[in-house]
Parts: sequence; structure tokens; C-alpha cells
Amino acid sequence: MLLSIFVLGGGVGVLSVHHYTRDDFPSHFIFGSATSAYQVEGAANQDGRTPTIWDTFAHAGHAHGHNGDVACDEYHKYKDDVQLMVETGLDAYRFSISWSRLIPNGRGPVNPKGLQYYNNLINELIKNGIEPHVTLFNFDLPQALEDEYGGWVSRRIIRDFRDYADVCFREFGDRVLYWTTVNEPNVFALAGYDEGEGPPLRCSTPFGVLNCNTGNSTFEAYLAAHHILLAHSSAATLYRTKYKDKQHGFIGIAVYTFGILPQTNTEKDILAVQRVHEFYVGWILDPLMYGDYPNIMKINAGSRIPAFTSAESKQLKGSLDFIGVIYYTNFNVTDNSDILKRKIRDFDADMAAQLAGKQDLFSEEEYTVDPWGLQQVLKKLKLLYGNPPIYIYENGQRSQSNPSLHDVSRVKYLHEHIGSVLDALRNGSNIRGYFAWSFMDLFELLDGYESGYGLYYVDRNDPDLKRYPKLSAHWYARFLRGTTTSRIGTIQLDKDPSLLSLAHLFQ
Ligand SMILES: *[C@@H]1O[C@H](CO)[C@@H](O)[C@H](O)[C@H]1NC(C)=O
Ligand SMILES: *[C@@H]1O[C@H](CO)[C@@H](O)[C@H](O)[C@H]1NC(C)=O
Ligand SMILES: *[C@@H]1O[C@H](CO)[C@@H](O)[C@H](O)[C@H]1NC(C)=O
Repeated sequence: MLLSIFVLGGGVGVLSVHHYTRDDFPSHFIFGSATSAYQVEGAANQDGRTPTIWDTFAHAGHAHGHNGDVACDEYHKYKDDVQLMVETGLDAYRFSISWSRLIPNGRGPVNPKGLQYYNNLINELIKNGIEPHVTLFNFDLPQALEDEYGGWVSRRIIRDFRDYADVCFREFGDRVLYWTTVNEPNVFALAGYDEGEGPPLRCSTPFGVLNCNTGNSTFEAYLAAHHILLAHSSAATLYRTKYKDKQHGFIGIAVYTFGILPQTNTEKDILAVQRVHEFYVGWILDPLMYGDYPNIMKINAGSRIPAFTSAESKQLKGSLDFIGVIYYTNFNVTDNSDILKRKIRDFDADMAAQLAGKQDLFSEEEYTVDPWGLQQVLKKLKLLYGNPPIYIYENGQRSQSNPSLHDVSRVKYLHEHIGSVLDALRNGSNIRGYFAWSFMDLFELLDGYESGYGLYYVDRNDPDLKRYPKLSAHWYARFLRGTTTSRIGTIQLDKDPSLLSLAHLFQ
């Protein structure tokens, strides 16, 4: 009996039948899932870890009063989690290292317990055939460095970051081949230093979303990103000169991207789309590919955006082996050139464009399932940067954290987006892998535990924080085992008796 289960999204109009299987992807293409340290590890005050700017932010109540003190307790449950990854059929797991767990206070001696934890996790992954993809910095700067010299707004961060990266390459590089220096530097800089809605909560009136009492929105986001870029290229150069010959790994950075449409078909809005791309994505990738910021940023921001020396520019250029793409959704853009007449400006004003719905970036709403934006991003990166290797490091559907496990819209979202990756591959994009965000429901930056992107639900009322597979975990596992998946949104459960027990979920 063919048990053809559900039709999604309240009436599917066009039946663009697009079946695909895992075998349609190149054999070297990898599928994984992702998390980050503060969002899953817990054990925040254990075994020598010290607080980070993200701990401080959460404890000040900015994530619905939630924090990552316990999170998913992956610090103690990593073996069980790796078994779940095996059951799901993941090729790879993307996680981040907590700087202040490995090197408490950010600089100086390595914490043996922190070292042990990451060695254990990496060994457990490798023993189970799962490739580690490791991020070095995911918003969680050691608070000690923030207190000492202002963290990313000081040039001193470049050396401390490089030394931290050196420890990671030295200790783990015999087993880790894929390194991301920094996660979403564009979002981190804007949220943390311009809008003041993310750690370390710096901004100035009239620009901040929250009332910041420290910082300066007119230039600190540019400054923080500048130091991130220099820290990246410094670590990448170190890797290439000291480790690459022995370890043969790759260095990337992970950039937040989105699809962009002009609100109207006027030249003004079309040019605004171009500016938005340059301000959000070119800001980070142009220096790493070509050695300098996009021209329009230098023109509009003037002396508020720092300049690279020619030596820095030379070191930056080509310091990326791959681009990590973070993609969730799309925005419309309207021209806002009049704002350039304003005397005091910040990043948004310099961009002279407005993103419709930008304030909803972190809301709890579900994303509309509209994968053209991912294709647009992939196509742009291919054209602008000479078809570089790409890992899609985050992509997933947000929903309210919900114990029903019936995450139909996430299944539909993943299905459509993985399908659009296949289209882009067939068009010649150099995409090497896809990672669903997130492996389990975890501590989100602003939503805390109110929203969840996870393939696995974590029961926070259970002291043991038991994980339960959602429909999406089953769907992903079936896809990874080679089952055909079809774009019209049906899942065929006939061939897998283990899934029949799920049938009740669809009624
Ligand atoms: C921010 O810096 C600019 C440029 O140095 C300065 O004009 C402005 O007064 C500063 N704003 C605040 C709030 O300190
Ligand atoms: C976004 O812009 C497109 C035109 O490019 C338009 O068709 C669509 O309705 C706009 N969406 C919103 C939410 O305004
Ligand atoms: C693939 O290329 C064709 C021809 O250039 C283009 O029309 C289509 O939009 C592209 N699709 C993707 C997913 O990039």
C-alpha cells in the first residue's frame, strides 16, 4: 500500500513535480547539520570556562530571560548526540569552539579540561564517520577581553584571535580539515555595534534599537568588522605558513546572506538592491577576495570605514578557501538616498536603502518557503567571486518551540531549499555541502528557547533534556538514506515501516 501522506501549506497550487534523491548530488557532496558552542554546550560555569559577552547579554535578560548556562548540555551529552547524528545519517557536524572554555580569559594558558572536551567530541565524531566542520568564533568573545580592551573594537584582538586559532590548529588540526574563522561577521558587527541588539550591546542614539549607554553606531560596526577581517586573514596566513603542508585543511568565513528584490521596478530601487548586496555581503567578502571594501561603502562611509594598508590588503586578498553561506529568507529593498544628506549616519544610512521587514529578522515567525533567494545568492557569489567553493552552513525553518514534533513547514522548507541547491549545482555552482540549522532546538540569540529550528526537539521540562526526533529529522534521515523526495510536498512512507508509527502525526 502506498501511504502518501500529506499535502502542505494549505493547498498546493502548481504541482512543479521535482523529485530528487541524494544520488542526484555529486558523490563528494556532504550533508550535515549545525549548532554553536554557547547555544548547545551548557556547563557554562564548569571545568574552567569563563563568561563571554554572550553570557553577559543573555544574563541581562535580552533573550526572553533565558540563557545558555545549561542549554542542551551537549558538554555532557555529546556521545548521545553523536549517536543521533549517526541515526540521522549526517556526513558532517558543524559546531563551534568556545574560546573561553579552551583559553579562559582569552589569552594565556590552555585549559586542559576544555582541550579534553573538544578532543573527545572530535574523536567521537570521527570514530563514527562524521566530519567535523569547526567555527572558531560564534559571537562568544571571552568577557575578559571585552573588559580589558573593548574586544573587537581594538586592534589588540587580532593577535589574541590569531593565538587562539593557533592553539586550535595545533591541537585539533590533525583531525579537523574545515575551519571557519568567524560566524556571520556582518550580523555580529551590526547587531552588536550599530543597532545594539546583540552582544556586546554597543550603540549610540539615535541609531540603537535598545538604549545603549556605550559605543558609537556611526563607526563601530565598521571598526569591529575591520578587525574581524584582519583577524581572519592573520589566522588564515598562520594556517597556510605553519600548518597547511601537514594538515591539508581549508579556511573559510560564514556570511549571513538573503535574497533581495527591488520593491518597485524603478532604477532607483534596482540600484538600491546592488548597494544592499555590497553593504551586507561585499563588505566581508570583497576584502577577502579582492583586498578592499566595495567602492560604494568607501564613498558613502568616508573616513568612518577604516582603510587597509597595502600590506593588509595583500594579506587579505585570497585568504579564503571557501565561503560559508548562511541563508534563511528574503527581503524587499527600497531606495532611501535622501538619507545621505543627513549629517550623522550609520551603516543603514550609508547604505541608503531600506529593507522591508528587517525588524522581523529575529522574530518568532516562520519563514515563507521561497527558495529563489538562495539561488540568487549562490548565483551572485558564483559570478562575483569566480565560482568559489561554497558550504551552505546554515539554512532552516524557524517555528515556535513546540513539542508536537509535527514540523511540516520545516520539512517543506528543507525539501525546497535542498532542491534549489541541486538546481544551482546543475547550473555549475561550486557548492560542496549543505548543513541544516539546527541539529536540535537550542538557545537562539534573541528568542532564547521560545523558537526552535531543530531537527530534534529538546524537552526542557525533563531534567535529562531528552531529545525527540521531529518529522524533519525523519525526513532528512530518509533523504540521506536515498529515498526519493518530491517537490509537491508528499512523503511516501510505504517503504519504511519505522516511519509508519509516525502516521498519526499527519492526521
Ligand atoms: C560618534 O563618533 C562621531 C565621529 O567621531 C562623533 O561625531 C559623535 O559625536 C560620536 N557619537 C557619540 C554618541 O559619541
Ligand atoms: C516585493 O517586491 C516585489 C517586486 O519586486 C513585489 O511583487 C512584492 O509584492 C513585494 N513584497 C512585499 C511584501 O512588499
Ligand atoms: C540556471 O541558469 C539559467 C540560465 O542562465 C537561469 O535562467 C536559471 O535561473 C539558473 N538557475 C539557477 C538555480 O541558478
